[in-house]
Parts: sequence; C-alpha cells; structure tokens
Amino acid sequence: MALQLGDTAPDFTQESTSGTIEFHKWAGDSWVLFFSHPKDYTPVCTTELGEIAKLKPELDKRNVKSIGISVDPLSDHKGWAKDIEDVKGTALNFPLLAGDDRKVAEAFDMIHPKADSNHTVRSVFVIDPNKKVRLILTYPASTGRNWAEVLRAIDSLQLTDNYKVATPVNWNDGDDVIIAPSLSTEEAKKLFPAGWDEQKPYLRVTKQPGK
Ligand code: BEZ
Repeated sequence: MALQLGDTAPDFTQESTSGTIEFHKWAGDSWVLFFSHPKDYTPVCTTELGEIAKLKPELDKRNVKSIGISVDPLSDHKGWAKDIEDVKGTALNFPLLAGDDRKVAEAFDMIHPKADSNHTVRSVFVIDPNKKVRLILTYPASTGRNWAEVLRAIDSLQLTDNYKVATPVNWNDGDDVIIAPSLSTEEAKKLFPAGWDEQKPYLRVTKQPGK
C-alpha cells in the first residue's frame, strides 16, 4: 500500500553521492525533504536539483536536510553533478541516492507504472524528526516543482506543530493565521490574548504567533 501521511517513513541503507546513507540515522533530529526525479542528464531535473542546492541556507534555517533519488546508478549521478554545478552555479550539497536497484523508490512508491514503468515520477516527501511522513506531493516528469511552495508548506507544518493554528490559502510566513477550530472561545482567549477577527464563528483570524 502507498505511504500515507502519518506513516513512519521506511528506513533503508543505500549508496549515494555522499557515501552510504542509513536513512533514519542520517536524518537524526532533522526534518527531511526527500524527493525523486525521473532521470539523470535531463533538463528539468538539472534545474530542480541545482535550485535545491542553492536553497541550502533556507533549508538549514528550518532544520531540514534534503536528499534525492532517481532510478539511475551512482556513476551517472557523479558525472551529472558536474553539469548541475555548471548550469546553476552551485555544487550538489546533499546526497543523491543510487536508484538502479529500485529498492528505495519502490519502498516510497515513487514509480507509477501507468505514467512510466521505467522511471521515478517527481515525488516529494516531507518527514519530521520523529520520522513520520507529514507531506506528500507527486508531479509528472514534465513539470518541474516549485521549491518555494515546499518551503512554504514546511513553514506551515513547523508553525502548526508549535501553536494551535492553521494556515489559510496562500499563506506565507508572517501572514495572519487561523485559530484552530478545535479551540473553544475560552481556550482561544487564553492562547491569543490580543484577540482575533471573527469572520465566521469557525473562522477566527489572528496574528501569526511567535513573530
Ligand atoms: C526532465 O527532467 O527534463 C525530464 C525527465 C523525464 C521526462 C521529461 C523531462
């Protein structure tokens, strides 16, 4: 069965461009951004991986480690890494897992045979420090992902883990948030003493806490 939100991410040991990765041990106390791409030496993937490398300072700020995979062998990854640096100006600064044995890709259900039986699709998993899967996205090979959206979603996950709020449509860090509908008015008064804008009894908008 496919992985679902709340599942424990499968553990694995696999070779990568950064040496052998024992996944859970490597993740440690960090959040993890784990993504697949269909194939080495392809244009969209080259832009995506270079961009992730550039985002390292933003990922570090959020205590997120990134790690990628395709169904290609390690020897291809190592050659291709040079192209990524040429094109995007930043060297790979995260592990790319060897995927030619398909073991990890299958454990994470990253091969969708009706789309392409030979290559991984563009999957994204955000995994929390307890190794629970917290977000899953799946894009087709022809559509490059928007990493800014993934960072935005990580911001939401981390905020809503710490405060009893939810984030509305198109929210970005610093924008107003929604008080969790599960909170009674009395509970909300204690947690949000500065108050809120009650647009509906179930839609109470307040300043982002912790800012
Ligand atoms: C790409 O990364 O450019 C790509 C990979 C597989 C199919 C289509 C595009």
